[in-house]
Amino acid sequence: MKTTVSRAWPAEGLTRVPYWVYQDPDNYQAELRRIFEGPTWSWVGIESDVPRPGDYRTAFVGEMPVIVVRGEDGAIRAFENRCAHRGALIAIDDCGSTGKRFQCVYHAWNYDLAGNLTGVAFEKGSHGKGGMPPDFRKAEHGPRKLRTATLDDDRLEEWPEFFTDACFYSITSAENHRQGLPAGLMYADSKAMLRDRVAALREASVYERQSYRHLVGLPALLGETEAGVRADTPFLVVRIMRDGRMDLFATGRYLDVLVEESGALRFRERIVVCDSGRVDTLLAIPL
Ligand code: FES
Repeated sequence: MKTTVSRAWPAEGLTRVPYWVYQDPDNYQAELRRIFEGPTWSWVGIESDVPRPGDYRTAFVGEMPVIVVRGEDGAIRAFENRCAHRGALIAIDDCGSTGKRFQCVYHAWNYDLAGNLTGVAFEKGSHGKGGMPPDFRKAEHGPRKLRTATLDDDRLEEWPEFFTDACFYSITSAENHRQGLPAGLMYADSKAMLRDRVAALREASVYERQSYRHLVGLPALLGETEAGVRADTPFLVVRIMRDGRMDLFATGRYLDVLVEESGALRFRERIVVCDSGRVDTLLAIPL
């Protein structure tokens, strides 16, 4: 018997989430499609899970099983954990080290660390029988690849590319933000300014060597306006100095406006609101 689910929202507003949100299969499918299969970022792991080339871990993006693996060039990539042959899991363990390739345990199809299909058992058949058709191209049959991005990998040159050309980025304090004061500790109103910031860090600024470790919480999606989707995300940054000393450097919220551009979500605006108004003079790297 099929029961009809009432989609009414409680009068209390957004402070109450009704049960149908969790129970309605149509709503679940819509969430999978719009969030996990849509142009949004999904967390799949931390870099230290895969410290060496060939190290991997498995995860899920929605219902899609994925492999996260460090390549021989040091880059972290992710692709669907489904064999192009008959859909078996390519990696069946939670984590491990796979050397230079993955091999499906069922019929030994092979994949490199970028998810490219590189080897098909009996591709040419055996004793003149079987094999793949002449027009079979391995390059056309790999698992789906996911775009990956990492924080704290010192790939600062890639950071501006997460923004639209006309964008706004600033770092401010909660107090200033509450009062609507526009001046920021760091301020940029275009992607070109963000690039300048990175160039200055690389070529002009002199400062004690340091790195940041960001811990980023789950974004709360606040709604969609003409400007884009607004999100509020808590963060915490630990600063690691050259001598190994670690400080709790900053906590706060990212107030973002995101838009879809060329199939990817980009920041039209990111305001970094630090909880404390006391900021270290060595605020060198963007938060
Ligand atoms: S299912 Fe992977 S090789 Fe057959």
